Amino acid sequence: MNIQELFGIELPVIQAPMAGVQRSALTIAVSNAGGLGSLPCAMLGLDALRGELEAIRAQTDKPFNINFFCHTPPAVDPAREAAWRKALAAYYGEFGIDPDKIPAGPGRAPFDAETADLLEAFEPPVVSFHFGLPSPDLVARVKSWGTKVLSAATTVEEARWLEARGVDAVIAQGVEAGGHRGMFLSDALSTQVGTFALLPQIVAAVKCPVIAAGGIADARGVAAAMALGAAGVQVGTAYLLCPEAETTAIHRAALKSESARHTALTNVFTGRPARGIVNRIIREVGPISPAAPAFPLATAAIAPLRAKAEGAGSGDFSPLWSGQNASGCREIPAEELTRSLAGG
Ligand SMILES: Cc1cc2nc3c(=O)[nH]c(=O)nc-3n(C[C@H](O)[C@H](O)[C@H](O)COP(=O)(O)O)c2cc1C
Repeated sequence: MNIQELFGIELPVIQAPMAGVQRSALTIAVSNAGGLGSLPCAMLGLDALRGELEAIRAQTDKPFNINFFCHTPPAVDPAREAAWRKALAAYYGEFGIDPDKIPAGPGRAPFDAETADLLEAFEPPVVSFHFGLPSPDLVARVKSWGTKVLSAATTVEEARWLEARGVDAVIAQGVEAGGHRGMFLSDALSTQVGTFALLPQIVAAVKCPVIAAGGIADARGVAAAMALGAAGVQVGTAYLLCPEAETTAIHRAALKSESARHTALTNVFTGRPARGIVNRIIREVGPISPAAPAFPLATAAIAPLRAKAEGAGSGDFSPLWSGQNASGCREIPAEELTRSLAGG
């Protein structure tokens, strides 16, 4: 079954949920264009989430996807926190930041019962998860609304695990993908493979539809994924320059520059591996730092550095999330991009 039939949409294109760089304007534009628009909720409080859901319901009657992270929040480890601040000490000195005055912050919240209570009234047509799935009772609750449930697999084992727990489709996330790796059964980066190696192996291993993600930037990439058995595609990076995205000017400039050709998987921004354009902090502290606290706790210590650097027009300390193929990034309305990805 292709995703047009599965979700009741026109085009085989899902706009990837991208926390921190978009809200409902992008979701609405893509859904109205006939794709599946997504709303990332990992960084939204409950009031903000309600507002975005109301905006979507008011501005489209087409299906849409609501996306959550579902990690287990870690306990704060004071020794690791201290080691992390020590690793960043020279930068605090450079910017005149007092490391003892940095507020702790969780950064990203997982899906929970309270969120489900709020979501229920909106009966979202599709909900997708990153980092596995929430508890079986929460998954059952979401499915009881008639909602289709998706999650990302970065290995064949993860795809089988997700299918056994009842997802309606698996997103095969190749290592080219921008943003966080959805990996959840292993934290070994050596398990992570490219989209065109991963996709056919997952298609062979599961019965449910498989959605390809990672490095797909234009209609030829979509056609290639379909030829390898994908039921549809999920595209993130290519949407980052659309006017409906809230990508910062610094991030947009990096995506348009030569530096977008050099990305890395790094844990320095959040504590979990995610792909972004290589900048000063990745080069000097990462790309993978053993000192970085567990996801999402690494975020708090970087936040004031990011704020100071961005204030001076620099992306040296910003997470410039991007996949390995930024060649599809275009400053065109999301409707036009969605149609062009589908070959229209
Ligand atoms: C800026 C950015 C933010 C992302 N944030 C999320 C997120 O909040 N939730 C999620 O499930 N995936 C997130 N992703 C990963 C996407 O779902 C998807 O796997 C990826 O964008 C596909 O690869 P591509 O970027 O090469 O198109 C993000 C990707 C990017 C580029």
